Amino acid sequence: MDLSGDAIRRALRTRWLGHRVVYVERIPSTMDLARSLAREGCPEGTLVVAEEQTAGRGRFGRAWVSPPGVNLYFTLVFYPSVHAFPRLGMAAALAVRRGVEEVTGLRPSIKWPNDLLLGGKKFCGVLAEGVQEGERIRYALLGVGIDVNMEVEAYAELAGLATSLRAQLGRPVSRLDLLAAVLAALEDRYERLRRGESLHPEWAAALETLGRWVRVRWGEEVHEGLAVGTTEEGALILQRADGSTLTVTAGEVTTRP
Ligand code: BTN
Repeated sequence: MDLSGDAIRRALRTRWLGHRVVYVERIPSTMDLARSLAREGCPEGTLVVAEEQTAGRGRFGRAWVSPPGVNLYFTLVFYPSVHAFPRLGMAAALAVRRGVEEVTGLRPSIKWPNDLLLGGKKFCGVLAEGVQEGERIRYALLGVGIDVNMEVEAYAELAGLATSLRAQLGRPVSRLDLLAAVLAALEDRYERLRRGESLHPEWAAALETLGRWVRVRWGEEVHEGLAVGTTEEGALILQRADGSTLTVTAGEVTTRP
C-alpha cells in the first residue's frame, strides 16, 4: 500500500497546502470529516485522505464509487475570499490536469464545469461546498476523486462513462506521486486566486464543452443550446435555438449524439 499519513507528508512539495494530513483507512466520506475539522477551525489547507469511502458523494447527490487501494479520495479545507470561493472548482480541475500531465504525460480535457476526461470518459470529479456568513465565507471544502488504478469494467454503473489513468496508460500510476503533483499545482492556483488573479484563460483553453450543442440539467430545469462561451467565474453561456443567450452557473452537461 503506497498511501499513509507519513508517506504523504514526505512526498508533499507544497509550502503549506496539505501540511496537516488526516489519513483514514475507511470512512463514509472525506467531506464529512473535513467539515467537522473546518467547524473546529483547523488550519487552512488541512487535507483529509481516505483509502476507501463507504458513502462517497458526487455532485447532485450521486454516489462516488470509492473502492480501497486503487484511487485517490481527498478533501481540502480552505478559508477563501469571496473572489476565490466560486473559483475553487476551477482551481482543482486545473491542478489535477497539471498533476496528471506531469506524472503520466496524458493531457486531460475539462468537461464543464470541472469534470476531467480522457478519451471522452470521466476519471476525476470535483465537489466544492462552502458555508457563507453574510459577506464572508466561513469555510470551503474541496473534494476530489481521481480514478487512478481502478478496474472500471468491474462496476456496471460506470460502464461507458468512466475510465482510469491506468486504463488510459496501460500501466499503474503512483497515487503518492500524483497526489504530491496535484497539491503542488493546486497551491499555486489557489495562491493566484488569493492575489485576485484569474484562472479563466487556462481553464477555458482546456474546456472541451465549448462549440458543442449541449443539454444542461439542473434539477427539474433543462436548457439546450450551443456552448458559445464562459464567464470569468466559470458559468456557461448558451446560445439557444431561438438566438437568445442564457448563462448557467451549475448543472450537468450532456452532448447530443
Ligand atoms: C462529481 O460528482 O464529479 C464529484 C465527485 C467528488 C468525489 C470526491 S472523492 C473525495 C470527496 N469525498 C466525497 O464523498 N466526494 C469527494
